[in-house]
Amino acid sequence: MGITHSILITGGAGFIGSHLTRLFVTKYPEYTIVNLDELTYAGNLENLNDIENHSNYTFVKGDINDASLLKSLFDKFQFTAIIHCAAESHVDRSITDPLAFVKTNVLGTVNLLHVAKEHWKNDLEHKIFYHISTDEVYGSLGSEGFFTEETAYDPRSPYSASKASSDHFVRAFHHTYKLPVKISNCSNNYGPFHFPEKLIPLCIHNIINNKPLPIYGKGENIRDWLFVEDHVRAIDTIFHHGKIGETYNIGGHNEWTNIALVLELCKQMDIKLGRAAGTSEQLITYVKDRAGHDLRYAIDATKLKNELGWMPSLQFEEGLSKTIDWYLSNSDWLNNVTSGEYQQYYKGMYG
Ligand code: NAD
Ligand code: DAU
Repeated sequence: MGITHSILITGGAGFIGSHLTRLFVTKYPEYTIVNLDELTYAGNLENLNDIENHSNYTFVKGDINDASLLKSLFDKFQFTAIIHCAAESHVDRSITDPLAFVKTNVLGTVNLLHVAKEHWKNDLEHKIFYHISTDEVYGSLGSEGFFTEETAYDPRSPYSASKASSDHFVRAFHHTYKLPVKISNCSNNYGPFHFPEKLIPLCIHNIINNKPLPIYGKGENIRDWLFVEDHVRAIDTIFHHGKIGETYNIGGHNEWTNIALVLELCKQMDIKLGRAAGTSEQLITYVKDRAGHDLRYAIDATKLKNELGWMPSLQFEEGLSKTIDWYLSNSDWLNNVTSGEYQQYYKGMYG
């Protein structure tokens, strides 16, 4: 018999956090799951409508920087584990407002580490502090090679610098205080509930509304895309079977240039929307490149496959089709998240 965990998930109302929370609440009814989320522009309780009444689930609105709130939650729920997803996650926003990224991603993570260390200091057995991180900490690749767990950190955007810093703090708490940590660094996720500031949902939203599809630079940058449900399945595997103190890379073995990806999206959406072939690709518009735009990310996930048996389950074309279908059948969700603040953000970014 394994442990009956009481788990604090941070950022559980965001994109990846909501898929993770749903998986843990439904797969482990014997676990207590507490979702702490500040509900920034990226957090949305509509992402969790289907599980909000489950008896093993509690939502708490709050900031990971609030030490007294964290302490009271530790006292009340006696957490045995934390899965830390809360973050500012969008590279473009980090270019405009780097301090917000330092506050949540660096200071917030250190605050969480500190409270966990204090609460667990007399009994570290069976505790887990699992930090969710990104492949962007490794920097940018040329046309060849992959990021492994041994690749030296070389973050190049304020977002990736803040995530790299948080990873370093997590390792420092393990080394200095023996805090039982795990880290995973994942490539680009896509799927339902993805906020339409990121490339794929932004383009789906714009194709539906016949708006330009903004491609930064020449569209030649490469990302390694993974369906979000495959990511949270990997987190489940690492949480339960990964070794304390270890890092695991998670990736899709699925590299696409941005332009090839958007062309595939246009092709699939023309069919699904009953438009003539070639209609949506006419919306493609090349715009000013992102400052410091990393050329290529690609993950070598051999360690995760060999040690823990995880592999991606979906082909990209199939995952993309499922994703488009979800957005087409959830127009209320899409309309809600693209009204209000999103309009100002969009004008500021794209004119
Ligand atoms: P997201 O932006 O969709 O969600 C972030 C969540 O954190 C939101 O619900 C937000 O309200 C919450 N949050 C932000 N600041 C907070 C604070 N101070 N206190 C409490 N809650 C706060 O992000 P995501 O894409 O789901 O990413 C989740 C994690 O996974 C992040 O750590 C990110 O770096 C990492 N990651 C993301 C990807 C990706 O492709 N999206 C890939 C690899 C790793
Ligand atoms: O690699 C993992 C990372 O993937 C995560 O850590 C981040 O949280 C997540 O946001 C994502 O970062 P990217 O910057 O790669 O994702 P984004 O969707 O913003 O951009 C994907 C690519 O598309 C990138 O090369 C920039 C480009 N792009 C993006 C937008 C929003 C465009 O060409 N036009 C756009 O409008």
